[in-house]
Amino acid sequence: MNKLYLGGAIFTILMLAFTYISVGGSEGGLNGDIVNMLAVAGAVALVIITVFVVIKYVRQMQTDTADGELADESWDNIGEYKNPVPMGWAIMFLGTMVWGMWYFLVGYPVNAYSQIGEYNEDTAAHNEKFSTQYESITGDRLVEMGESVFLAECKVCHGLSADGIDGKAANLKVRLEAKTVKHVVENGSNNHLLGSEMPMPDRNGLFNNNTGALITDAEIDAVSQFVANGMSGAGAEVFAGACASCHGEDGKGMEYVAPNVAAFTPALVVNVLNHGKKGAIGAMPAFDRLNAKQKEAVGAYITSLSK
Ligand code: HEC
Ligand code: HEC
Repeated sequence: MNKLYLGGAIFTILMLAFTYISVGGSEGGLNGDIVNMLAVAGAVALVIITVFVVIKYVRQMQTDTADGELADESWDNIGEYKNPVPMGWAIMFLGTMVWGMWYFLVGYPVNAYSQIGEYNEDTAAHNEKFSTQYESITGDRLVEMGESVFLAECKVCHGLSADGIDGKAANLKVRLEAKTVKHVVENGSNNHLLGSEMPMPDRNGLFNNNTGALITDAEIDAVSQFVANGMSGAGAEVFAGACASCHGEDGKGMEYVAPNVAAFTPALVVNVLNHGKKGAIGAMPAFDRLNAKQKEAVGAYITSLSK
């Protein structure tokens, strides 16, 4: 018998013996279980088929002689036959390209499972639950909720008692400090305090209607003290002449025109949280990670501080 077939037969017998030992030796053995039987039958078939396919190709390599037209190039006398591209190979090649495009455009990156996606879905679902559960909270409970948001998110800069830690951030116990008013009147302001872009002009656009002239340094100092004192004291006339047309006689602001400079309102705080704020004291970041109810609550809390 050909040595090759002999080797194949011995290998097959060995593999079958190993299969028998490992299956028969394991606890319970085949035990008539149909799934186990099928698995073993599959293994046996695989061993036999593999051995005979390998033998076929090894024999072919031993006996084949090459013929056909040689290509012109030769590398150190190693030549290459001109063969047509096999059809199966060509189909696979094109198929792989099509699959690659599908995979890139609609397959994995777009429609795959992702942990970030799962996190975002969970967060959205949780927020949904949260918003229906907390929607109805108003009044004192809203202020309490705002206080806990404040202690978690804002106290690092504004301090436990919201006093701004010696000027590190705005003192939220008063609506405005004199230095902030002065800075705004001199430089203007563009902080989206009304929710959308509605800048306040700087001193070159601020006329005092009582005098008919641009606002002066002395008037700026006076009106800054006036606003910082809670709309009382000396600068009242300047305010009436230069500011009231937008901020209102009482400083409480006008919708779409100018914000309230006499007191905090939850809407103003929400706008600061949505857009951040830059001013005399420094820069405050926007707070995207708070949801609408949390912003409303912390707005109510801050509004309650200066009352
Ligand atoms: C033309 C209308 C207009 C006039 C006049 C005007 N303001 Fe304003 N003011 C605005 C607008 C609009 C804003 C909001 C700007 C923003 O979004 O940053 C604002 C913002 C402010 C702020 C900032 C509030 C904060 O929380 O930081 C202060 C302080 C202020 N004004 C004071 C004054 C004073 C004092 C005068 C008079 C000297 C004055 N404004 C005149 C329109 C006006
Ligand atoms: C990284 C520090 C920092 C954190 C955190 C921070 N703030 Fe501020 N905040 C500031 C600074 C600085 C200013 C003053 C900006 C300026 O110069 O007008 C400010 C200003 C404000 C103002 C505007 C006051 C005004 O005059 O109109 C409000 C309202 C406010 N913060 C609320 C909050 C709330 C609510 C939180 C928590 C959700 C918070 N801040 C967290 C730094 C911070």
